[in-house]
Amino acid sequence: MSDWSGGYVSDVEYVPGYYGEQAPAAMDLACIMSGVEPARRPGTNAPFTYCDIGCGLASTISALAAANPVAQFWGIDLMPAHIARAEAFRTAAGIDNLTLVEADVVALAHAPGADLPRFDYIALHGLFSWVSAEVRSGVIAFIDRFLKPGGLVYLGYNTMPGWTDTMPIQKLLIEYAATRQGPSAERIVDAAGFATRMQAAGARGLDSGIGHKLFPDIELPELRTRHYRYLAHEFLNAHWQPRYHIDVVRELAAAKLDFVGSTNLLENFDGIGLSEEAREVLGSVAPGPLRETLTDYFLDRRFRRDVFVRGRREISADTREAALGDVVLALSGPRPPPDKSDWPMLSARFTLKPEVYDPVFDRLEKGPAAIEDLCALVEAAGESATGNELVGMLVGLDLVQPVLHDVPAVTIEACWRHNRVVTHEAFRSVRQNSFTLALPVGHCGGQFDLFQTLILDGLFAGVPAEIGPLSAHVLSRLKVPPEAMQSPPVPEAAIGSAPAAEEAAAPDTKEGTDATPPKPRPAGEIVQNAARIVLDDLLPIWRQLGLIPPRDTD
Ligand SMILES: C[S@@+](CC[C@H](N)C(=O)[O-])C[C@H]1O[C@@H](n2cnc3c(N)ncnc32)[C@H](O)[C@@H]1O
Repeated sequence: MSDWSGGYVSDVEYVPGYYGEQAPAAMDLACIMSGVEPARRPGTNAPFTYCDIGCGLASTISALAAANPVAQFWGIDLMPAHIARAEAFRTAAGIDNLTLVEADVVALAHAPGADLPRFDYIALHGLFSWVSAEVRSGVIAFIDRFLKPGGLVYLGYNTMPGWTDTMPIQKLLIEYAATRQGPSAERIVDAAGFATRMQAAGARGLDSGIGHKLFPDIELPELRTRHYRYLAHEFLNAHWQPRYHIDVVRELAAAKLDFVGSTNLLENFDGIGLSEEAREVLGSVAPGPLRETLTDYFLDRRFRRDVFVRGRREISADTREAALGDVVLALSGPRPPPDKSDWPMLSARFTLKPEVYDPVFDRLEKGPAAIEDLCALVEAAGESATGNELVGMLVGLDLVQPVLHDVPAVTIEACWRHNRVVTHEAFRSVRQNSFTLALPVGHCGGQFDLFQTLILDGLFAGVPAEIGPLSAHVLSRLKVPPEAMQSPPVPEAAIGSAPAAEEAAAPDTKEGTDATPPKPRPAGEIVQNAARIVLDDLLPIWRQLGLIPPRDTD
């Protein structure tokens, strides 16, 4: 930690990651679903200005800038190492609508000549609950000064009471690390190692919350090589304060902001995920910040993805449907199996009603379609669905994404430039296993694993779309002896970037099972399997999303 960092860990770089909730379309849809005028109506390609405060390595904002050449993006971060790395990537990928600024947001908020425009969108992912009250006030002053009337703020923060059970781990890690000498990267590894020993010796309060995922799964060598970066940024800051939603709403009111809804679109359906009893109890509390906060008690939300607006303008349900009707949706991955009932973004388990969703998926498998046409198909099948329901469910479950009608050539070129740099360099970061690519049709980004990224590298280099040549390309890019790859790499997301990754870790936990470890498989077999999945399931989707060129026959 240094004098200039205000208590924020500044001697170890954070992890890269893409957070779709920061996409302008995600914020706009959260508004529409909540009956509030968005910054831009979905499906338009109008110019806008966007600022990411605490952008870290700027992976999210770089992909968004490449996918939205009509817009101007700014990324602000305190750490010179983050901005230097992001700037090198920006230059290599030729993203000229992105300006990266190394600055303290507090200083910028009050700087007399700050050379910044007023923004349509301001995003903060993973900053607000990791900094002091003084920095939070600076953030609010910045928003007050630079957000346009009608502009939107996305705020992602660690939420109370969801983090209650992790507080003993945070206290242990930060206090023990403070007794060690050396850089944060080493101190957090020492502290996590010590916590693991404490837990093994029967200490209480360490195996719930994030500890439940950390300690059973993570061997020290993994900590040392990968997870330490997330852990240092999560736990070693002098200030760490998961926030109650109601307190955040009160703080942001100082910048004339009103809470609108969540970029986790499912959460905008009132009562989703709640038991009958919970609904009844909460029903006696008026809708508003208190009810929203009390809902967090039931849903155990650990990370909120809140959208706020400066100047709330209500829109009617009819206007909302009209605004959604023209929005075009495209599949963002293979169609889910009909009996799928566990969705990572929601604690409630349910299956999608086939009478409603089968006609929708049948149509989307043929290509993108407008919401009003999808609603008409559902109606023709004797059911009914509003645009709001289709968007909330399908975008909320990450099964589809809103796309542009006509994607300008400049967008495709900017995305491909971005993606070529990422895919070409991916072999240097084999431990990362999560790479951000820009998606021209969805004017957003997406996450791809190491093999998918290297397969795309092959396709960009003209390698034929066949298992043999693509697998050979991947293995040659990895330049590792096959024995070094005998088990699939664990996704960075298993612990990785703050909450998203922390949630993603859940399926990996081994608690309650005594499964034997998977048998090592040779590298060639693993890579061929990945290539088969890409060729069989993903290529048509990648073509639709503009990630790779359409076939001549399309
Ligand atoms: C947990 S990281 C999140 C990075 C990125 N938003 C992401 O989610 O990948 C928080 C970032 O905020 C930056 N930061 C902390 N205090 C700041 C301040 N006062 N002004 C600007 N950036 C700050 C840190 O350098 C760090 O990169």
